[in-house]
Amino acid sequence: MTERVILDCDPGHDDALAMILAAGDPRIDLVAITTCAGNQTVEKVTRNALAVCAVAGIDVPVAAGAAAPLVRPQMVAPDIHGESGLDGPVLPAPAREPEACHAVDLIIDIVMAGEPGTINLVPTGPLTNIALAMSKEPRIIERVKRVVLMGGSAGRGNRTPAAEFNIVADPEAAQAVFAGAWPVTMVGLNLTHQATADADVIARIAAIGSPLSEFVVEILGFFAKTYREHQGFDAPPVHDLCTVAKLADPAVFTTRDAFVAVELAGRWTTGMTVTDFGDAYGEEHNTQVATELDKPRLWDMTVDAIAALSGSRS
Ligand code: BDR
Ligand code: CA
Repeated sequence: MTERVILDCDPGHDDALAMILAAGDPRIDLVAITTCAGNQTVEKVTRNALAVCAVAGIDVPVAAGAAAPLVRPQMVAPDIHGESGLDGPVLPAPAREPEACHAVDLIIDIVMAGEPGTINLVPTGPLTNIALAMSKEPRIIERVKRVVLMGGSAGRGNRTPAAEFNIVADPEAAQAVFAGAWPVTMVGLNLTHQATADADVIARIAAIGSPLSEFVVEILGFFAKTYREHQGFDAPPVHDLCTVAKLADPAVFTTRDAFVAVELAGRWTTGMTVTDFGDAYGEEHNTQVATELDKPRLWDMTVDAIAALSGSRS
């Protein structure tokens, strides 16, 4: 059985890897890609998504979405992803045009046209598009199979000590998604910081020897540099990849149920994903929180997906 996925992203180096895994793993049926302002403006991340599609041979609809958060000023991340949002490799010209419709409408149309319980939403950027879709067509909430999102943390943040980028970039949208009556998996920093692309992984990808594998090596090279300079990492954590990996193979990481809420009024903590594994607030647990990663499993499937899209086997 394959998992049907709408990938809502802001490419973004790790978003690009998520796209490639979603397209190259036989257990995933990538239905559409939607974009949201996040790592860079929506124009830039949409162009990047189309460039990744061109180099990886991904042929699915791509629709541009929200250009700004629901209520707060825009936040972008050039320190980590560069001015283009995907600095490092030379980006090829897009092989297709974005859809004429807005990402929010594409999400709604696909979810409402599909059988109930068959479409997974995989957001790997700020949650603006998803919150707008819930508000425009609330019936999607009961029809979506699961929301597997990269964002937040059960521990510390990365954009501030308390908050992770995707959540603090649009905390009101994130709170709406966590509070929705649908199954949510939070793939936060406490998990994704285990998903580093170490030298042995990069060597395995390079050994595939295709234009796509070279592109991925260049992406990871730039990501390694910014993560070393700005976050003090020896190897870059490829956050967004872990969301798609969970749907391809549920054994790739463990989860624990918790109540998760987004801090919207903190003086220092806005955007924090407050994670209660117990009963401190007397609230029903609303989220599966990712905890322990099986790192070899993650990289084996990723190398296989790059090889498959390259027309070879690893
Ligand atoms: C998240 O923020 C972005 O910079 C990455 O693409 C990832 O989705 C990590 O905090
Ligand atoms: Ca992202």
